[in-house]
Amino acid sequence: MLSWPKTQLKAVLSASQFDRELLDFLLSISKKIETALRTKRVLPLLSDYVLATLFFEPSTRTRLSFEAAMHRLNGKVISTVGVQFSSLAKGESLFDTLKMVEAYSDICVIRHSTEGASAVAAKNISIPVINAGDGAGEHPTQALLDLYTIAKHKNLQDDFTVAFIGDIRYGRTIHSLIQLLWHYPAKLLFISPPELALPEKYKSLLKEKNISFVETADIREACTADVLYVTRIQEERFLDRQEYEKFKDSYIVNRQFVESCKNNVIVMHPLPRLNEISTDLDSHPSAVYFEQAQNGLYTRMALLLYLTGVDFS
Ligand code: CP
Repeated sequence: MLSWPKTQLKAVLSASQFDRELLDFLLSISKKIETALRTKRVLPLLSDYVLATLFFEPSTRTRLSFEAAMHRLNGKVISTVGVQFSSLAKGESLFDTLKMVEAYSDICVIRHSTEGASAVAAKNISIPVINAGDGAGEHPTQALLDLYTIAKHKNLQDDFTVAFIGDIRYGRTIHSLIQLLWHYPAKLLFISPPELALPEKYKSLLKEKNISFVETADIREACTADVLYVTRIQEERFLDRQEYEKFKDSYIVNRQFVESCKNNVIVMHPLPRLNEISTDLDSHPSAVYFEQAQNGLYTRMALLLYLTGVDFS
C-alpha cells in the first residue's frame, strides 16, 4: 500500500510542480493500472465524474489518451475541438467559455497556442485544470508519460544520459521533461542547430538546480547516450516559413545511425513525427515511441485518480 503523497496539486500547469515523492507515487500507480488493464477493460473508479477536454490546437495522442483514460475509469467526457466549433468563433471570451466548462464538468484539460493559457484558466475556475500543451511553453503530462517510459527501460536510480535532438527551443515536451529528470541522476545533452537551442529561461533553471548539461549541433555526440529523445521541428511556431525550411530536416535518426549508438539505447519521440525518425527504425528493438504514446493512457489515468483524490494504491 503506497502512502498518499504530501503534495496535493489542484492544477497541473508545469512539470516544476512535481516533487520526487509525487513522481514516484504516480509512476507506481501507473504501473498498477497498466497491470490491472491486462485483465480488466475498465476500472470503475470515476463513475461520478465528468472530464472536459478543450483542444484549441491539433492533437491526436493527448486528447484521445485523456478521453480513453476517463472512459477506462468509467467516467464521462465532454469535449470541444478547435475554436471554430465552440462559441469562441462567435466572439465569446475564453473566460466565459471556461465558466461554462466549470459549470458542466469536474476536471478540465486544455491545449492552447498561448503560453500560460492554462494558468489563466486555473486562476479563473475552481475545478482542476491540466495543461495539455500551451504554445511553446510546457506539456507536463507528456513529461510524465516520458518519465514512465524511461523507467520501464532504464533504472532511474543509475546514471543515465538523455540526448534531446531537434527543436529544443520550441519543443514544449522537452521543457517539461528536463524538469522531471532533475529529480534523478540524469545527464542532459541538447543537440540542435544553435538557433533552436534551449531557451535561457530553462538554462537558468538547470543552473539553479546545479544540473550540468552539454549543448552541441553534432548528432554524433548522441552515440554515448542511453536515451535518444527526438523531436519534430515545430513548424507552427515559426513566424518565417523560410526559417522553418532551413531547419526542417536538420537531423534524421535511422536504423543505421541507431546501430552506431550504445547497444541498449532507446529511441523516444513525443510524436507526431515527420522525417526526423525514419520508418526503417520502427521494427528495431530500440524504437519505443509507439509504446511511449500508449503509456500516456496509464499515466493519465493515474493523474486523474490523483487529482480526484481516489486511491488506487
Ligand atoms: N505528444 C503529443 O502531444 O501528441 P499530440 O499533439 O498528438 O497530442
